[in-house]
Amino acid sequence: MFMKMPFLNRRKKQGSYKLSNDNLPEHVAIIMDGNGRWAKKRGLPRVAGHREGMMTIKKIVRHAAKFNIKVLTLYAFSTENWKRPKTEVEYLMKLPAEFLDTYLPELMENNIQVRTIGQLSDLPEHTRQAVELAIEKTVQNDGMILNFALNYGGRAEILQAVQKLAADVKNEQMKVEDINEEAFSSYLYTYPLKDPDLLIRTSGEIRISNYLLWQLAYTEFWFTDVLWPDFDEEQFEKALYDFQNRKRRFGGV
Ligand code: FPP
Repeated sequence: MFMKMPFLNRRKKQGSYKLSNDNLPEHVAIIMDGNGRWAKKRGLPRVAGHREGMMTIKKIVRHAAKFNIKVLTLYAFSTENWKRPKTEVEYLMKLPAEFLDTYLPELMENNIQVRTIGQLSDLPEHTRQAVELAIEKTVQNDGMILNFALNYGGRAEILQAVQKLAADVKNEQMKVEDINEEAFSSYLYTYPLKDPDLLIRTSGEIRISNYLLWQLAYTEFWFTDVLWPDFDEEQFEKALYDFQNRKRRFGGV
């Protein structure tokens, strides 16, 4: 793990900001959008954007770990992404294995633990195996959690939680009067992680696209026009800086 915390005092074209090591988000969730547009702008096939997007993941994982972010949840494949052309889906399904093959030593070195949220059982065998192997190999690491949302949908997550909860009520493992927010959260894929403090979405789209619907209730949102393959450490720091300068009231005053 990188032990040294970078104190930053940078002067930007738009103004200046000072990023302190206090009040950093513990859990950052990212919607990595704009890979296709990045490729199109360069006359490249869409998959070239996904490949470059994978390189951005490596950069941002390293950087997030430097700031002692506890959990980084990345939206890698949604339940809606199956609608894409077959060749694109096949390519996206190969990326986790490639990423983990080339990056696992660095994840180990930095004490990073890989986890997933989503319906892994519907992924192609080779994708699932690669991910499960990475989870297994990194299970003892207790540094940053790198959480991939794979075949993830917020509504599907809530529905499977309701089904499990209903089954537990039926078999008397749970009482109706004990169902509260905390109990419900324990049926979600994200349990026992705390809810994201900060959500970043790239590429200028201002929506949440079925991502962490329950968990984003009090999350701070941060949007940028930058396409995911162009997103970098400086952008990430800007998001952290803006987060530090927001007042979170959680419904209070
Ligand atoms: C959205 O961009 C991006 C995705 C649906 C896939 C994100 C995947 C990666 C960044 C790589 C995954 C790698 C690993 C290791 C899991 P888009 O294609 O919708 O872009 P567009 O809106 O410009 O078309």
